[in-house]
Amino acid sequence: MEVKTKNFKNVLLKWYKRNKREYSWRNDSDPWSIYLLEVISQQTQLSRADKYYKKFIKEFPAPKDMATSSLKKILEMWSGLGYNSRAKRMFESSKIIAEKSFDGLYPDFQQLPGVGPYTENALLSFVYNEKVITEDINVKRIISRYFGVKNPKKFIERFSSLLLKNTESRKLNQALMDFGSIICRPRNPLCLNCPLENSCKKYFNLETKSQEKFFGSNREVRGKLIKILLKKGRLNINTLQQELNTDQEKLDKIIKNLQKDGLVKLNKNNLIDINSS
Ligand code: ADE
Repeated sequence: MEVKTKNFKNVLLKWYKRNKREYSWRNDSDPWSIYLLEVISQQTQLSRADKYYKKFIKEFPAPKDMATSSLKKILEMWSGLGYNSRAKRMFESSKIIAEKSFDGLYPDFQQLPGVGPYTENALLSFVYNEKVITEDINVKRIISRYFGVKNPKKFIERFSSLLLKNTESRKLNQALMDFGSIICRPRNPLCLNCPLENSCKKYFNLETKSQEKFFGSNREVRGKLIKILLKKGRLNINTLQQELNTDQEKLDKIIKNLQKDGLVKLNKNNLIDINSS
């Protein structure tokens, strides 16, 4: 397969120069800052993630500051971001990072709870300046549409060194992410304003996973439950059930999962609280 990456890259980088979103962490190569931002920004708009990032980096300027804090404190600060188990995994990761340091973990950051291929590559690119593409959903969407490929992951594996030849990976990755959220959006892409429009294959066939419905879901009840415990402290399970107005069976299942994730603990007297161990 012959692919032309030169025009794609040049146009994209030129677009980025004039349109990039400015954030403090963009020019930062401190691994803890990058790690925090990447964890916070998953499933969250970047401008909103940035506000939380500022709060977290101020309170926990180094991994050991978070590692010696408490889950309760972290969940309070996380409130509004959703997916509390992500905060728990971040807390657990901070303990490992405090002990081993990023350089000690390098290059296998997937040892850290909650870190998958995307975050690992973000660290490798933004901190260690390595020639890797951060394959988030935006990046895969652009590649798929522009080059007309059904399997962007495979395409990236095959052509990443060509894409990154003579180019700082940090620049190209951030350019792709910004382009994906401003121009090549999942729905209603701005093709009329797109500088790559005339060479784009316009392959709009990529499956998009629709988000699980939030209202009425177990995820909604999980979030509410944590919020109540943060506000009221330890509670009897029956009181909690009344507050949540949910049925016993559903609540039992949710509590079991929260225990499994290490977010709450339940004692023999049916008292439930945020896990402090
Ligand atoms: N989303 C997560 N990390 C990002 C980054 N570095 N640039 C743009 N969007 C992002």
